[in-house]
Amino acid sequence: MNTATIGHIAIEPSILYFGTPVVLLTTQNPDGSTNLAPMSSAWALGRTVVLGLGADGQTARNLAARPELVINLPAPHLWPQVERLAPLTGRDPVPDTKAAGCRFEADKFGAAGLRPEPSETVRPPRVAECPLQLEAVAAQIRTNESDDFVIVEAVVRKVHADPRIVVPGTQHVDPAAWSPLVYNFRHYFGLGPELGHSYRTQTPRPA
Ligand SMILES: Cc1cc2nc3c(=O)[nH]c(=O)nc-3n(C[C@H](O)[C@H](O)[C@H](O)COP(=O)(O)O)c2cc1C
Repeated sequence: MNTATIGHIAIEPSILYFGTPVVLLTTQNPDGSTNLAPMSSAWALGRTVVLGLGADGQTARNLAARPELVINLPAPHLWPQVERLAPLTGRDPVPDTKAAGCRFEADKFGAAGLRPEPSETVRPPRVAECPLQLEAVAAQIRTNESDDFVIVEAVVRKVHADPRIVVPGTQHVDPAAWSPLVYNFRHYFGLGPELGHSYRTQTPRPA
């Protein structure tokens, strides 16, 4: 599309989810069980991952009381498992503010068809099927200006990677082997072919 020749129009979209990777957060419930929730408002600043979470969710409640978590990154083929989690909450009773059709589920791993595996530095388990798993601790939690979201700064303690997405003999994730699952205006996508790379890449490949 040649945007230089196409006039823009003003629109009022209902959401602004312009395409960010899906992560699955595991947190610990008050009874010691695990909550598992998909979210996509997540981005990294060095070893810190900033997360935007609905203040009415069980994940936000868990992190305020028990700050350990795992940020699990599913690959694109796991989108059906992610979508099975979409209408579920760990909150019982379900608050009125949750989307229509949202229901309580105590066993989110079972509902999604995913397996927990123990973490090494935090209490919540990792999601075994996810090729990248970041064990982390919520170091700062604040609310947004209207108090309906919380903004969490999670400091990563340990990174686990499927060896198939690691450049052999290095500490680097192979960008040609890894693709995030992207949530693009409530639709799921994987990455297309590589277009190029940053001058700062540590894993250059011939064009
Ligand atoms: C792909 C996907 C992305 C989502 N992104 C977010 C998000 O970034 N922030 C958020 O608060 N909820 C997000 N949600 C909605 C939560 O998963 C949903 O509110 C869920 O009920 C939270 O579970 P909990 O109440 O047990 O924490 C997303 C859902 C899906 C399926």
